[in-house]
Amino acid sequence: MTTNEDNLKKIISHAKEYGFVFPSSEIYDGLSAVYDYGQLGAELKKNIKDFWWKSMVQMHENIVGIDAAIFMHPETWKASGHVDAFNDPLIDNKDSKKRYRADVLIEEYIEKIRLKNEKEVEKGKKRFADNFDETQFRATNPNILRNQAKIDEVTSRFKTAMENDNLADIKTLIEDLEIACPLSGSKNWTDVKQFNLMFSTEIGSVAEAANKIYLRPETAQGIFVNFLNVQKTSRLKIPFGIAQIGKAFRNEIVARQFIFRMREFEQMEMQFFVRPGEEMKWYEYWKSERINWHLSLGIDEKNYRFHDHVKLAHYANAACDIEFNFPMGFKELEGIHSRTDFDLKQHEKHSGKKLQYFDPEINQNYVPYVVETSIGLDRTFLAIFSSSYKEEQLEDGSERTVLKLPAFLAPYKAAVLPLVKKDGLPEKAREIMDLLKYDYNCQYDEKDSVGKRYRRQDAIGTPFCITVDHESLEDDKVTIRDRDTMQQERVAISEVENIIRKKLTRENSR
Ligand code: GAP
Repeated sequence: MTTNEDNLKKIISHAKEYGFVFPSSEIYDGLSAVYDYGQLGAELKKNIKDFWWKSMVQMHENIVGIDAAIFMHPETWKASGHVDAFNDPLIDNKDSKKRYRADVLIEEYIEKIRLKNEKEVEKGKKRFADNFDETQFRATNPNILRNQAKIDEVTSRFKTAMENDNLADIKTLIEDLEIACPLSGSKNWTDVKQFNLMFSTEIGSVAEAANKIYLRPETAQGIFVNFLNVQKTSRLKIPFGIAQIGKAFRNEIVARQFIFRMREFEQMEMQFFVRPGEEMKWYEYWKSERINWHLSLGIDEKNYRFHDHVKLAHYANAACDIEFNFPMGFKELEGIHSRTDFDLKQHEKHSGKKLQYFDPEINQNYVPYVVETSIGLDRTFLAIFSSSYKEEQLEDGSERTVLKLPAFLAPYKAAVLPLVKKDGLPEKAREIMDLLKYDYNCQYDEKDSVGKRYRRQDAIGTPFCITVDHESLEDDKVTIRDRDTMQQERVAISEVENIIRKKLTRENSR
């Protein structure tokens, strides 16, 4: 049986082997939780960005996009609350010297019990077959009830400790639950401490005059501080949105799980400014818009679920995550937050500038409320990449690894392959490349047997292979092979572009 860990390992090694993702500065043994996107990863990432930008900006007349700087005035982060409160509770194991997020240790403990219950349900299903009533089973099975009671008790103690910022209670909970260091098995823990996740550096060339500044931990603040600039210059009326894609930096305590949790990553965020009192309507609207965006990728809907936040951040009056079934289980992919007027009001207070909107429809000035959609680009990459990765057993007994990426996101849309490297076939293949390359990123490949070349293109997710053979010189036809069905069709060269274009619409992309 393959475990989640095996699955993730396979994804990581495939991403590296084919030039999607490399460890950063690998020749120096890498840098923890920092990754580089290789030649194909950069293409896939760019296509995801373009797709998000088009869906959010191009398709909404009342949303515009900006590109704010990573460095911002340091007061920004005092106003936003990040200097005081952007912390994670950390705990060290005294024996292994390993550092953990205390909240994650407890969450993992809860998850283990939840999985035990799922196993009980699976056993019940097998035992009672057609007579199985899952709701009744969950409500009456003594093991499940005992486990659920434990989950409720731990969750309640954990929630109270977190809400009261009571670090001592979190440590006591870890000790009471006898949670051991996953590496050493030791239960010898330090006290829990708060750790601020922002990276800082200095701006200015003269040491004495240099000022401490931060690398932004979210792109959202670049939008808030530009709210009036954009509103005045665009003349947009509320409700309207400002979108942005850009790097964010967090000194994460637990740095593992590949590009899921990185110290340098990219966010795609949109702040939607609304009339106070209308935020819940827009919160629901964006929940539905965003889940539909995910589903339009054609990934099985079973892989997504909403998770409402148990503990709301001090600035939010509603918040949820869209979770995805990553190789390591369901985890946060995107956050949708109703952030009230907290950020704009804080920036008014700290800057002394008014950040208000005059609403001509109701003849009133107010600080708008904000509904935010915030998705990690790297996590979206991982979600798409991992769900597209398939190992297939073919009818002839052979195996293939194929990346069933949505065609419109694939790094190459087609590969052009002359059957042999002579007899004028490369020249004919080059003509086809020239025909396609202005509109589509294509790859020319003449090395190795055609079978091997097909496998290489399958492994990087190229939707079509176009093979030029001797007959092509006579009849101006080529063989076009579909990545997913592996079916081959003989078509006129003049038809090829049409076939590719049709496949690249989102509806036909999977
Ligand atoms: N402006 C709101 C905000 O930043 P968040 O939930 O902290 O909210 C939003 O982050 C998204 O950014 C997450 O859903 C996740 O996809 C991505 N993200 C956050 N931390 C990350 C990290 N260390 N590595 C990769 N992606 C991350």
